[in-house]
Amino acid sequence: MSYSRIWLLSALMVAASAAQAGSKEPIQPIVAAKVKSPAMVELGKKLFFDPRLSKSGFISCNSCHNLSMGGTDNLKTSIGHNWNQGPINAPTVLNSSMNLAQFWDGRAADLKAQAGGPIANPGEMASTHVIAVEVLQSIPAYVAEFKQVFGSNTVDIDKVTTAIAAFETTLVTPDSRFDKWLKGNKKALTADETAGYKLFKDSGCVACHNGPAVGGNSYQKMGAVSAYQTASGATGRLGVTGKEEDRLLFKVPTLRNIELTYPYFHDGEAATLTQAVETMGRVQLGKKFTDAENAQIVAFLKTLTGKQPSFALPILPPSNDKTPRSQPFSK
Ligand code: HEC
Ligand code: HEC
Repeated sequence: MSYSRIWLLSALMVAASAAQAGSKEPIQPIVAAKVKSPAMVELGKKLFFDPRLSKSGFISCNSCHNLSMGGTDNLKTSIGHNWNQGPINAPTVLNSSMNLAQFWDGRAADLKAQAGGPIANPGEMASTHVIAVEVLQSIPAYVAEFKQVFGSNTVDIDKVTTAIAAFETTLVTPDSRFDKWLKGNKKALTADETAGYKLFKDSGCVACHNGPAVGGNSYQKMGAVSAYQTASGATGRLGVTGKEEDRLLFKVPTLRNIELTYPYFHDGEAATLTQAVETMGRVQLGKKFTDAENAQIVAFLKTLTGKQPSFALPILPPSNDKTPRSQPFSK
């Protein structure tokens, strides 16, 4: 028996005995974000929405992490510069501050480390940190805002990523119906939804999807019990650690707002929640759910949609004669 299989079984036993003992739930409510520096969050919000951080002047963080659509692009894999089709599905930025690390393979330690990546990724925003900073530095209203937040007229990539990360930290989604239920309002869920939660616990989904984000806190093998077939070349943690045993280990995704963040899995192959639940049962647990059970689990998952971040659309200061021009159609 493989190590991951033994680990999974013991985690399942712990989860099952916790459930029997009636001890506290494996999932906790999301706590609303406390904003430490409102000015920094405002600046980060502008940067998140500013397509001038891309070479084309057309792609912003919000293009692929659309906050009107659960912080994702709802595409199988993302589209970047020059209509480049990316290799992997865009995870949501909602509640991403709760992740043990960023990206499917966890290669960025935190949100600040992550935020520099897409700006300079040739397949995503295709700019460089130098040009992105030149663009911002050329716009007096941005310079004034950086000065107000960081106490210096000099814009640099460290400040840019610090501000974006501060904004992202506010993108949490409390007050889902499930959280209301956890906090004692037993009328917040229907009978089918509660039955779905019981199946989610008793079948062992909670061994990997637990904590306030219902995931995001461990790396697990995709195909813990039987192999997952995919055409995607993504290798998961292997790419970070170089260890063969880490092949196809991915950060367990959060299931918060899962109804909004389709399609599912790193390869975007599951178009619907019904399909995702079927696959998870089969490859992670060796279980085949009946249609009724699958529907109950899906009903439960839909109760995890929380209050979406809501704010006035940021108005971006205009470019001027000194601002480096964007290059929409360049390679
Ligand atoms: C062209 C589409 C695209 C753009 C633009 C883009 N992202 Fe992403 N983002 C992705 C994809 C795809 C991934 C997953 C990549 C991986 O895991 O290898 C990702 C991953 C992330 C993650 C990690 C989430 C998690 O759960 O691991 C965060 C946070 C994030 N992006 C924030 C940003 C920010 C901030 C910007 C703007 C500076 C940005 N992204 C721009 C597509 C995009
Ligand atoms: C052994 C750990 C493990 C178990 C058990 C497990 N999952 Fe997962 N789950 C994962 C991992 C890892 C992924 C990401 C896999 C990938 O994208 O290749 C995932 C992905 C998902 C997704 C898609 C999320 C997204 O944003 O793409 C859903 C939905 C899901 N799981 C639901 C469930 C349900 C329901 C169960 C129980 C029937 C379950 N999981 C059991 C580890 C697990």
